Parts: sequence; structure tokens; C-alpha cells
Amino acid sequence: MLGGAAAADANGKDGAISPAPTRAPPPTANRAALPLKLKLLRPLLLLAVLATGFLAAVVLLLGGSTYSVLPRLSVPDALSSAPSSRQPRPHPQPQACAGDGGGSPLERRARPPAGAWHNMTDEELLWAASWQPRIGRYPYRRVPKVAFMFLTRGPLPLAPLWDKFFAGGDRALYSVYVHATPGYRADFPPASAFYRRQVPSQVAEWGQTSMCDAERRLLANALLDPGNERFVLVSETCVPLYGFPVVYHYLTRSRQSFVGAFDDPGPHGRGRYRAGLAPEVRPEQWRKGAQWFELDRALAVDVVADDRYYPKFREHCRPPCYVDEHYLPTVLSVEAPGRIANRSVTWVDWSRGGAHPATFGEADVGEAFLKRLTTPGKEQGTCTYNGQPADVCFLFARKFAPSTLKPLLALAPKMLGYGG
Ligand SMILES: *[C@@H]1O[C@H](CO)[C@@H](O)[C@H](O)[C@H]1NC(C)=O
Ligand SMILES: *[C@@H]1O[C@H](CO)[C@@H](O)[C@H](O)[C@H]1NC(C)=O
Repeated sequence: MLGGAAAADANGKDGAISPAPTRAPPPTANRAALPLKLKLLRPLLLLAVLATGFLAAVVLLLGGSTYSVLPRLSVPDALSSAPSSRQPRPHPQPQACAGDGGGSPLERRARPPAGAWHNMTDEELLWAASWQPRIGRYPYRRVPKVAFMFLTRGPLPLAPLWDKFFAGGDRALYSVYVHATPGYRADFPPASAFYRRQVPSQVAEWGQTSMCDAERRLLANALLDPGNERFVLVSETCVPLYGFPVVYHYLTRSRQSFVGAFDDPGPHGRGRYRAGLAPEVRPEQWRKGAQWFELDRALAVDVVADDRYYPKFREHCRPPCYVDEHYLPTVLSVEAPGRIANRSVTWVDWSRGGAHPATFGEADVGEAFLKRLTTPGKEQGTCTYNGQPADVCFLFARKFAPSTLKPLLALAPKMLGYGG
């Protein structure tokens, strides 16, 4: 939303504006020496100033239009162009930083920390992550990255599938963060996208505030890399439904963040509202949505820096009020209603009923099932993307049991567009 388009715009504009001063008034020395001529020149000067302003406006308009065209690319566009234009690359060593040794001083300063681990407390981390430049345009070439934030208890059984997915993307376009139960040490080979990507963690219990703490901790860790522009939360049971280029373009070209939010008048919706949340949140502002969010950088900073709503949710929203189902949907609907799509990009199957969505096992995963998940008009449903009707609504799906790894690896090249 901000990154690539904004950077390109800034660069293009600087170049385009520079010809304008050739029509500017003559040098001061001449005018001081010839006061009479100055009087004659005055209308000309005025004209020149007007012309310069007009030129600047034209340049702005032109610049503005390229800026707005980029994110408006329709979803089918992203789908058809992306996979063919980018050949899957072999996975480079994660230690090799893009542009090591080169780049401007700013680019060097904007480089991500070498590893994901650090010694900061949560308080220090959230503070460090809440910094943001107030000038929106980057004065260097910044290619926006997507941060994939894995919230997991222990192992990541589907990591080999994700590694196939990441191998279809350039290392400079994504980053990975893993928040696991404290004490759990993931052991990935250096070639894996998960290698040394674990962040310091705390116990996170489903339905408790500690779960939302973990989400904010993940966001804060990912914000430490200034290159990250989109932040997507996934779990160990999630799988990508399309190849990396499709997912990357879908997220980075979206003008909105993908946070599910709806008004449920029933006991599991507004019934969970707590009077203590007023006046910050009124009952009619109460929203519900799935935990699996996707945020742009500006909203991610707002979330880690929030000291207005979060303390109140922590105090008043206790089970059966679930912070992870209500905090983000409610607060973003109050503070930034136009900037969220009110929908998630993670598909889940509630059709079997009950308190938990369906978990798919080895026997469920076949060609027909994956086709249903990825074909427009089937499980993808209908939605809008940048204000236009779209038929790709979900980029990820859950919940997949560890036993699905084998069939998924086998079918991914043909059915999901990666791993071939
Ligand atoms: C964290 O602290 C320990 C000891 O206090 C130190 O050995 C280690 O290098 C530190 N790690 C980082 C990433 O600063
Ligand atoms: C999301 O819902 C809010 C109301 O909570 C509304 O103002 C906004 O327009 C909706 N956004 C979309 C993309 O439908």
C-alpha cells in the first residue's frame, strides 16, 4: 500500500519536477541591477510562477495516477501474471543479506537484524517497535516485504510445505517469525526459511489475553525489520493455497488490511461486550472476527503502540469474552473502519458445526478437495478487493493435521502452484 508504489512515485516525481525551474524567473543579480526592466518583467514573472505551479500540478496528477493504478490491479491479474513472470529460485542461504556491503547509508541502516532472537523484555520490544517515520515516502528504493508470523505451540509439521512455498519467492520479499511455547527450540536446517527465525516467547493460552499478547509480540518482532510492510498471522495448521507471487501481490497491492470484523447481535457476539469498555468502546461498536489477521505496517504500529484500548480489554474482556476474537476487529472498526476489509484471507471450515472448525486429515486431501478450495465460486466464495468484486478471497486455509503433509507435498505443484 505504501511501500513499492510510494517509493517508485517519489523517484519518478523527483526526476519529472526538475525541468520546471528552467521557466523560473531570471537570476536575482540581473533584477537588482536593472530596476526598470524589473517592472516590465513583473507580469512575466507572475506568468512564470503560475506556469511553474501549473506544471507542478500536472506532474503531481500524473504521479498520482500511476500511484493509484498500481494497487488497483485486479485479483485475476495478480493470479495470471505472477506465477509465469517469476521463476522459482533456489533458496539462498538465509544469512546472506540482500545487498550486503552495498547500498546507501540509509539502506544499510534499514537492514533487518541478523537473527530473530534478542534479549529485550516485552516492554522494551513494544517500545522499540512503535517507532515510525513521519515522512511517508522512503528516500531509498524499498521493496516491501511480507512478514509471515507463525503462532504455534511446538513443532511446525507443515514446514516442509511452507519451505516449498517460500522457495517460489525471492528471499528479499518475505521474512519469517516463529512464536512457540517457551522452552521449545525449533531445529531447522540452514536452507529452511524457518532457520533461526524463532522469537523470544511467553506462554500463550487459547482464549486468554496471553494469546493476544503473543500476537502483539509477534507483530513487534516483525516491525523491527523496516522492510516489512504486510504482516500475516498464521498457525501451524495453515497452508498456502497459491504460489508465493500470487500471495505477495495480493497482499502488497491491497489498499486494505485483512481483518475479519462483523457485528453479531447474539450471545457469542454483543453478548460478550463488557460495560467496563465504555466510553472507549460502545456496545454498538463491538465486533467479532477470526484471530488470523493480516495488517499493513501503519496499522501494525498502531496495534503495538495501543495504550488506550488494550489495557481496558486486558482488564475487562475475560472469558467468555475472548480478546483474540474481539480486540482487533473492534478497535480497528472504531479507529480505522475504512482501512480494513472486514474479512480474513484465511479459510476455515465451520460447516461441521460445534465450537471448533473442522480439522482435515490425510484422507481429506485429494485433488477434488484442493480444487474446491482454490477455484473461484466454490469455497473461495465472493468478496471485494480494493473495492472491486473479486473471486479470490482466501490465500490460506486451515486446519490441516500433520498427516496431510505427504499428500499436500505431492499435490501442491499441480493444484496449488508451488513446489514443482
Ligand atoms: C543475550 O544475553 C546473553 C547473556 O545475558 C548473551 O550471551 C547473548 O549474546 C545475548 N544475545 C543477544 C542477541 O543479545
Ligand atoms: C467494514 O465495516 C465498517 C463498519 O464497521 C465499514 O465502515 C466499512 O466500510 C467496511 N469496509 C468494507 C471494505 O466493507
